[in-house]
Amino acid sequence: MADIQQTTNKQHRMLKISILRFNPQDPESVPHMQTYELEESDSMTLFIALNELRDTQDPTLQFDFVCRAGICGSCAMMINGKPGLACRTLTRDLPTEFTLAPLPAFELIGDLSVNTGKWMRNMSERMETWVHMKEEEVDLRKKEVPMDPQLAEDIYVLDRCVECGCCIAGCGTVRIRPDFVGGVGINKIARFRLDPRDTRNDADYYDIVGDESGVFGCMSLLACHDFCPKELPLKTQIAFIRRKMAEQGMRGYDKVLPTQKKAIPIKPARQ
Ligand code: SF4
Ligand code: SF4
Ligand code: FES
Repeated sequence: MADIQQTTNKQHRMLKISILRFNPQDPESVPHMQTYELEESDSMTLFIALNELRDTQDPTLQFDFVCRAGICGSCAMMINGKPGLACRTLTRDLPTEFTLAPLPAFELIGDLSVNTGKWMRNMSERMETWVHMKEEEVDLRKKEVPMDPQLAEDIYVLDRCVECGCCIAGCGTVRIRPDFVGGVGINKIARFRLDPRDTRNDADYYDIVGDESGVFGCMSLLACHDFCPKELPLKTQIAFIRRKMAEQGMRGYDKVLPTQKKAIPIKPARQ
């Protein structure tokens, strides 16, 4: 009973949320910060706060979300200057006054909404992020070749990328070179390089990431690793792929030689 009384009487903080507002579709729109006040509730996430603001104060506020569970990657934004997922950020972990802005480097749709899908699609097409098999046509009657469980687990770790764009928003190289593939792109090469079904070798991967828009453009400041909300091991993957591509550049392995699909130690990013 005393606990219930305590919860009822609990004082909630008043939040002051300053949001960068701009609608590129409206010729009258000018970028500006707009501040909203909102009473915090228990376990409030930024996603809940934004929906409450839109429902009760400003129906014109634009932002994206789909899953509310850190799976779709669509609610990424700059939270007090750092990239993060709105649905995975608790307001109690933020000060009472904070700012929200759209992710840089992506096409702005309006306010906090950006077109990460267009950027990711361009990158995926350029890097051919799919399994390249020898057979022209897949024979569905053929028995599947079982994969070593540890290798499947290692591939799964890298495959957890939700294409949220936080690594791109935090990347210094992207600001200088808009064609840079970032942590997300290099991680995808690491993922397919590990996959025994992908018949490409290091000469093929070198054609894709062996230049300054790929691994050799990376400045290794590792903001991508620090801001990845899925805690992908980007630090180890970037270092590993850069080493392999440097070897390829120096030794010039032939395209016909298969690449050894050696697993690299994959640990959770924050360890
Ligand atoms: S690597 Fe991490 S930060 Fe980058 S897009 Fe994937 S999940 Fe997001
Ligand atoms: S380590 Fe490389 S990919 Fe990651 S943020 Fe820095 S420059 Fe970008
Ligand atoms: S709404 Fe899907 S990751 Fe946040």
